[in-house]
Amino acid sequence: MSSVPTPVLTAANLHRRYSVRRGLFAAPGTVHALAGVSFTVLPGRTLAVVGESGCGKSTLARVLTMIEAPDEGQLLIDGNDPAQASEAERRTLRRAVQIVFQNPYGSLNPRQTVGQALMEPLRVNGESDAAAREHQARDMLRKVGLREEHFGRYPHMFSGGQRQRVAIARALMLKPRVLVLDEPVSALDVSIRAQVLNLLVELQAEMQVAYVFISHDLGVVRHVADEVMVMYLGRAVETGPRAALFGDPQHPYTQALLSATPTVDASARRQRVILKGELPSPLKPPAGCAFHTRCPIAEARCREQRPELAPVGAQQVACLVRQAPAAP
Ligand SMILES: Nc1ncnc2c1ncn2[C@@H]1O[C@H](COP(=O)(O)OP(=O)(O)OP(=O)(O)O)[C@@H](O)[C@H]1O
Ligand SMILES: [Mg+2]
Repeated sequence: MSSVPTPVLTAANLHRRYSVRRGLFAAPGTVHALAGVSFTVLPGRTLAVVGESGCGKSTLARVLTMIEAPDEGQLLIDGNDPAQASEAERRTLRRAVQIVFQNPYGSLNPRQTVGQALMEPLRVNGESDAAAREHQARDMLRKVGLREEHFGRYPHMFSGGQRQRVAIARALMLKPRVLVLDEPVSALDVSIRAQVLNLLVELQAEMQVAYVFISHDLGVVRHVADEVMVMYLGRAVETGPRAALFGDPQHPYTQALLSATPTVDASARRQRVILKGELPSPLKPPAGCAFHTRCPIAEARCREQRPELAPVGAQQVACLVRQAPAAP
């Protein structure tokens, strides 16, 4: 019997709410950006998080990287709860989960050379030997496919793809257990995307780092994901192994996302699903199943009862109709 490895990341019923002003005289409303999200990520594996704009992906990224605390629920990093940790322990946990953003221009200091950008996290975390810092930074530069002479250059001297390589290198300097990648290739030319995705796959194999890979595009995560979680308005609607999600999608929302993804095999798109209407306002999500207003298979009960994730096929699906089809 093989033992099950401890998850490097455990999210248990995470909630995050934002209070937002709706106008000068209106009472503030609440956006429930994360409305009870749960999952685990195993060491060295990749969870892809997919959904439309506003479904809560970046909010999740901020909670996982401890930039923001959840309002409810629990986050465990290597089995440790940051909410219960001492300040010193929290620093260690912060180091273990690093983030790469969509736009590396925003995360790289324009006045710092690439070498300085890579050495800084080491210095801040107490590596006092300058030669050791430089050696590790040059080593990482090579790992992400950049060259020796790039060490002394500034971010503006790089192409978008190269800059994203620098951002990835910087995030990996402290050998994190988890890298949260928030739309890491969305700003890149299609021709460059595959190169950066391949690099991420290679780095994972080499460094045994787990990824939470966030994207609005299922096609992008197809080649990197082990597990996939599809989100809609702050909740997971379907989650499961990549093969099941792409080969036999169950939730009508997943099916719609897939049918809009040109890079995915035709076999997975045999039922073409077109979504009607717009994404509802997150300030006033629909009652019952939040997806019912756009769902091609919604029934009366979907307007009243909110589905929880439950097994359907090899995955977990939050859909009343899929869980218990009406008798013929
Ligand atoms: N600081 C904040 N204050 C108020 N509302 C917020 C805040 N951050 C996020 N939201 C709201 O929470 C919801 C989720 O936002 P989030 O940025 O997590 O979505 P996303 O899935 O990353 O979208 P995108 O694909 O556009 O990046 C949105 O309705 C957003 O307006
Ligand atoms: Mg986002």
